[in-house]
Amino acid sequence: MATDSLQQTLRDHLAWWGLRHFTSDHEYFLWQRQQLSVEELNQLNSRAERKRTGDRVDEIAFYDLAAQPKTFPILYSQRYEYYEAIGLRTLAQLGKAQDILDFGCGIGVLTTFYARCFPDVNVVGIDRSAASIAIAQRKAKELGLRNLRFICLDVQTEPLSGSFDLVLTTHALLQAEQDPGIPSASWRTFDRVDDPSQQMAFEQRTGLAIRLDRLCQVLCPHGRMIVSEKTRQLARRVPFQRALASRGLQLVQPADPIQYRSIEEVVEDGPFYVLNKGNQATVTWDELPELDDGTLFNLNAMLGNSIDPNGPLYENHGPSAQVAWEELPEPRVTHELTREEPDGRQVHVELGLVDETHYLYCANTFDQRQLVMMEEARAALLEAYYQEILRGLP
Ligand SMILES: C[S@@+](CC[C@H](N)C(=O)[O-])C[C@H]1O[C@@H](n2cnc3c(N)ncnc32)[C@H](O)[C@@H]1O
Repeated sequence: MATDSLQQTLRDHLAWWGLRHFTSDHEYFLWQRQQLSVEELNQLNSRAERKRTGDRVDEIAFYDLAAQPKTFPILYSQRYEYYEAIGLRTLAQLGKAQDILDFGCGIGVLTTFYARCFPDVNVVGIDRSAASIAIAQRKAKELGLRNLRFICLDVQTEPLSGSFDLVLTTHALLQAEQDPGIPSASWRTFDRVDDPSQQMAFEQRTGLAIRLDRLCQVLCPHGRMIVSEKTRQLARRVPFQRALASRGLQLVQPADPIQYRSIEEVVEDGPFYVLNKGNQATVTWDELPELDDGTLFNLNAMLGNSIDPNGPLYENHGPSAQVAWEELPEPRVTHELTREEPDGRQVHVELGLVDETHYLYCANTFDQRQLVMMEEARAALLEAYYQEILRGLP
């Protein structure tokens, strides 16, 4: 089927689930207030907050509430474009599979879609939220899907059984959305040293180790895994990728960064990984930060060319600020400070001059970089900014 018609099939499926596509916050929240009472919204928000800061029990309680028939169309309509981004990419990979496991399937919006599109393939959806599984089972029955089963199980406490040639999992492997990941070796570099104790600590505190190990146990030799988590930030991406690689999972194609809108907000998600187990690696893992246009730094072209007379000559808050900083010709550092925390995290702040142009550079071991350049007349502004940063350091 052509991509357009697949997209239409998915849209029809999402509509069947009662999901609506909004591109305006105003319209979405108007609809939300018409459907849910203030009390229901408050309860949902407080469960969402407890999920963010709490434990396994809080997470299950949130997904159980989110799966209530009155609530899920409202809540999951926010994820409309996410379903499109993940659903269509995943669908394109399903062709050769016979037995598919969708781990952390939630209420089964996408699981039922895959089972509908491939009626000859056996699909199993697993989730630890009993209310989500109850909805998923009800919907699969309404759709008359005979090739689909849903099981309520927590892989943190119970092993999986069966054998699958394809395991899917999106947003279900990393329990800790806020986890910062692991720091780089120093503020000068984006490289992560290969430190087994740091890696193990990341895998344990995010719940990744047990989930991945148990999924790998039911993945048949040479089976494939399709994985996507919120790991675009390098500090999370590197340990996540290393966790996959250390379990013998290899990239089948380059990892695909994902971007979509959640109503009006642009979400940087993924990458989307297509992996296989036990085969020869053909694509290498990328441990470099995503660079933006800031790489095109040309000091001479920039000087005297400030478009905004009140703005700096150059300002870059992305990882490519480091590339620009490294390219500064003969910088003269006037002030600098490097602060190191007991856990090894570092931050470095630097003020300096390139000819008559003043610059401020700031870098830390969680990949944040900032380079600001100003002409002589506004050097005091940079100096004040430097002092402000120093005051804000722990
Ligand atoms: C963010 S939702 C994602 C749902 C679905 N994959 C999607 O993309 O729409 C995460 C789901 O993973 C489930 N989950 C997390 N940890 C789990 C575990 N240890 N065992 C089973 N399910 C788990 C949660 O209950 C939740 O439904």
